[in-house]
Amino acid sequence: MDGKSVLITGGTGSFGKAFVRHLLSTTSVSRLVVFSRDELKQSEMAAQYEKEPRIRFFIGDVRDYGRLERAFDGVDIVVHAAALKQVPAVEYNPIEAVRTNINGAENIINAALDRDVKRVIALSTDKASSPINLYGATKLVSDKLFVNGNAYVGGRVSRFSVVRYGNVMGSRGSVVPFFKRLVAEGARKIPITDERMTRFSITLPQSVKFVVDSLSRMKGGELFVPKIPSLRVTELAQVIAPNAEFEHVGIRPGEKLHEEMISTDDARRTVDMGDHYVIQPQTEWWNRRGGIGGSPVASDFSYSSDKNTHWLSPDELAVMLKEM
Ligand SMILES: NC(=O)c1ccc[n+]([C@@H]2O[C@H](COP(=O)([O-])OP(=O)(O)OC[C@H]3O[C@@H](n4cnc5c(N)ncnc54)[C@H](OP(=O)(O)O)[C@@H]3O)[C@@H](O)[C@H]2O)c1
Repeated sequence: MDGKSVLITGGTGSFGKAFVRHLLSTTSVSRLVVFSRDELKQSEMAAQYEKEPRIRFFIGDVRDYGRLERAFDGVDIVVHAAALKQVPAVEYNPIEAVRTNINGAENIINAALDRDVKRVIALSTDKASSPINLYGATKLVSDKLFVNGNAYVGGRVSRFSVVRYGNVMGSRGSVVPFFKRLVAEGARKIPITDERMTRFSITLPQSVKFVVDSLSRMKGGELFVPKIPSLRVTELAQVIAPNAEFEHVGIRPGEKLHEEMISTDDARRTVDMGDHYVIQPQTEWWNRRGGIGGSPVASDFSYSSDKNTHWLSPDELAVMLKEM
């Protein structure tokens, strides 16, 4: 990162703010551009960085190619975090998700190629593996656009990779702030969709570190998946609201009982790299590059939140919630 010009789309979101904080406090980036639509979120963030000469704020929409092309001028590294990601809102407004998550991805790739951006990492989600809701489906299309963006590079310098992970503890719109709000309002009952429900869990600092590490490792074409723990939603609710009863509200449309990051079909192309997995592209150009090492996973392998070998205990959950 040192000396590099970095741009983050969705820089005012949960991930973006943590990424900006991390880069400005631990690296010598020469310039850090926050790209997003809403001027209020940007001006609130700018107020926190009044004395930071390296940060720039750029209002723009990833649906607007021309704006991205202007923003990417002189940029070395792009992290693409902008997305529509609330499952119910995306189900109800499907074409909006297509425009932001799919057309936006295409614009990022084209602008990066045209502006000679060297490395681009796009953030993906466990919901993109065997998707059952439109959010996951649009992110799967986005993943494929980024991986195959490498096929259009020709003699250019740009490389594209994807990072896929599960629920970020405490991010905007996630279950932790929701449960905490209910407790603060004095609710006696906590809504639980299904007692069997499990989720992958990662903290914001862990997700930022994994993205930064992936930026330094990437050759272009990898889909990086961190090894992260699972949690039982009932245990999370009990830690946040120990005295509350559960109210069973049933699984919501587009929701899975368990999330998955690597399906059995993707396992054929997956290698275990120690602390993370890489799903490799199934393409000629990737085969010609000679691979990245690692050990192939078993052919019946899948990485899902219910079959995980690493679980967060209630004590660990309590510590994580306290640290947030
Ligand atoms: N949070 C999680 O649990 C989780 C888990 C796995 C993966 N991810 C992925 O991580 C990424 C970041 O998530 P997050 O939790 O940080 O989301 P977030 O808090 O909702 O932030 C989204 C950001 O994107 C911007 N944005 C939305 N639409 C845009 C557009 N059309 N053009 C430009 N900017 C736009 C938003 O700002 P404006 O509204 O002002 O434009 C905001 O800065 C997403 O790609 C998400 O799919 C998140």
